[in-house]
Amino acid sequence: MSSRETPKTVPSTSQSREIFCQALLDQMTLREKVGQMVQADLSWKQDVKQLLREGRIGALLSIREPQVINEHQHIAVEESRLHIPVLMGNDIIHGYRSIFPIPLALASTWNPELIEAVARVTTAEALATGTTWNYTPMVDVSRDPRWGRIAESGGEDAFLNSAIAQAWVRGIQNYRDAEGRRVASCVKHYAAYGASESGKDYNSTDLSERRLREEYLPPYKAAVDAGVMTLMTSFNDLNGVPATANTLLLQQILRREWGFNGVIVSDYDSIGELINHGFARDHKEAALRSILAGVDIDMMGNAYHFHLAELVEEGKVPLELIDAAVLRILELKYDLNLFSAPYIDEGKISSALLRPETLDLAEKSAAESMVLLKNEFSLLPLKAAGKKIALIGPLAEERQSLMGCWCFDGQAQDVETLHEALQRNLPNNELSVTPGCSINGNETDFSEAINAALQADVVILAIGEADTMSGEAHSRAHLGLPGSQQALVDAVLATHKPIIAAVFAGRPLAITKLAQQVPALLMVWHGGTRTAQAFCDILLGKVNPSGKLSASFPRSVGQIPVYYAHKSTGRPIESTGTLQFNQAHKSSYLDESNAPLFPFGYGLSYSEFTYSHLKVLTPKVSRSGSLKVSATVTNTGKVAGTEIVQLYVRDLVGVVTRPVKELKGFKRITLAPGESTDIEFDLPAAKLTFLDLELKPILEAGEYKVWIAPNSAEGLEGQFELE
Ligand code: GLC
Repeated sequence: MSSRETPKTVPSTSQSREIFCQALLDQMTLREKVGQMVQADLSWKQDVKQLLREGRIGALLSIREPQVINEHQHIAVEESRLHIPVLMGNDIIHGYRSIFPIPLALASTWNPELIEAVARVTTAEALATGTTWNYTPMVDVSRDPRWGRIAESGGEDAFLNSAIAQAWVRGIQNYRDAEGRRVASCVKHYAAYGASESGKDYNSTDLSERRLREEYLPPYKAAVDAGVMTLMTSFNDLNGVPATANTLLLQQILRREWGFNGVIVSDYDSIGELINHGFARDHKEAALRSILAGVDIDMMGNAYHFHLAELVEEGKVPLELIDAAVLRILELKYDLNLFSAPYIDEGKISSALLRPETLDLAEKSAAESMVLLKNEFSLLPLKAAGKKIALIGPLAEERQSLMGCWCFDGQAQDVETLHEALQRNLPNNELSVTPGCSINGNETDFSEAINAALQADVVILAIGEADTMSGEAHSRAHLGLPGSQQALVDAVLATHKPIIAAVFAGRPLAITKLAQQVPALLMVWHGGTRTAQAFCDILLGKVNPSGKLSASFPRSVGQIPVYYAHKSTGRPIESTGTLQFNQAHKSSYLDESNAPLFPFGYGLSYSEFTYSHLKVLTPKVSRSGSLKVSATVTNTGKVAGTEIVQLYVRDLVGVVTRPVKELKGFKRITLAPGESTDIEFDLPAAKLTFLDLELKPILEAGEYKVWIAPNSAEGLEGQFELE
């Protein structure tokens, strides 16, 4: 059958989704039903092709070659009894072949419209190459930069992660190709995986149900409210119960409270891992616990494949549970138009990849994600004319690392190095390039770098992490510059040349010394295929940086977790403290500040934005009303720029203790030099709801503070009363 012909089981247009899927389910044997609940990749020990013919695999995973995807889909559709196409799962979390900034960097744009556009174009590449199920968005609230997967997240805040979650779901699921096919989004990792103890991946999470519901669950709920079609359970055990068998999470909250009726997939053998958790004696018990908790598909595990049918036959698992799960899976495949168009047109692939407009968006989003952390003497943008430039650092000639973690289909050959981009953008400048050291080595001789710096008028440092230092299973206990990079910086600093530090990383770093040493510091992250040109755009002022941090930077690992929405405590640092033993005792360290190195929401611009004239237009807010507050923002700088204006509130007294600040809104504004604008926020009182002692939503009258601010550490402060 050609890749264009339709398969034998095709819903006739007259048949509704429900009738078609139910009719199909009614024809299925128990073995075929269980088959729909099994996902494998080609590393499986069993004969995948034969299992497809027998209808015993319903989804495949991580197949890189489109031709191989088509080959297996033909077998599933043409050679099985019921011709049910398979779902093709993949992790395209920041690009397929055109790679975009890592999600933590994209979050620093605070630009949901941009993220939705990124999601759309990455879906176009993904669908053209055979992916119909994308395990994105990852919106695990992350407050521990030791955790390698913070790179994949939207950072520390539930509100910002929620906006990001909805942007990804819309961008992915609203896209359709010429055949009307679409890709299912998959919100992950449910739940609270970002709270992994000590920042170690896969570690236990233990937090109150209050913290879980108020600080970690909102982004997943936002995805559900945006219509996400699937959800992935997480590896971690949560309060003693592994998420992959957690009925509070999967039944009570997800199905009953949120009304989610999509497909739930485990993470990679996370059902089988119930044995390692000590939560199941064997695979059969693991299968039992997960199916009873509500997991529909076993990703890459043997539990459902080998034991589910037997558990039904033994009466331990009601057939109704299996039927409900399989119906959800069939309906998902129907909604993706897989029954009518299961194959990809291999002739269209090359024209779908690396399209100029896609790469332009990659460049734009990389530039918008970069965060200017310091810029003394307006060293940036660089007045490059006639200057000798020394590019120094182990990231100067890197390609792969610029793409970051989780980009299997991105190719280093597509990535320009920083050296190449600088050469191309500054053809008339004398430019030297010196690695100075390796990314993670222990070099001590920096003479070559020192000489290069001495010969130059300005130094650009290309330093930070390799792509392999963040992402899954790549946590770090030390968060300074890796290897001997700080020693390299010290050596180059001794030349007293002006230094611009470009830091590449997949996480916030504890770069306190570097931040003190250099006059200009730009967080480049791992910005994808077009990182280098985006860096040059900012370096030379073609783009005015607008990024703001979505996760706090710690001064030291000892502070972790350090985040803005913390509680006040009974002895807050800003108080006089409690006099004990003739000393004021406060919640602080002997040897470290409480403040982060750079706070949530922080980022500089080549413009100067001043905030003035805060007006609380509704000093008394009724429970059914809205808080209206405005301020004037002025660009007192010399260049046009974009500012992300943030709205924070604080509930001063509650039936439970409340955070000292909570992000409740943000707006992006662009102002010409000298231009002012009045920003108004209209916050419905209902958005001030929190959970009372019984974890029931409460809207509590009382005094509140409100800020309109450039970041979480400063801003114009006002008061209002909720009646
Ligand atoms: C991995 C990750 C998950 C990913 C899945 C499929 O272990 O935890 O984020 O989507 O397996 O690759």
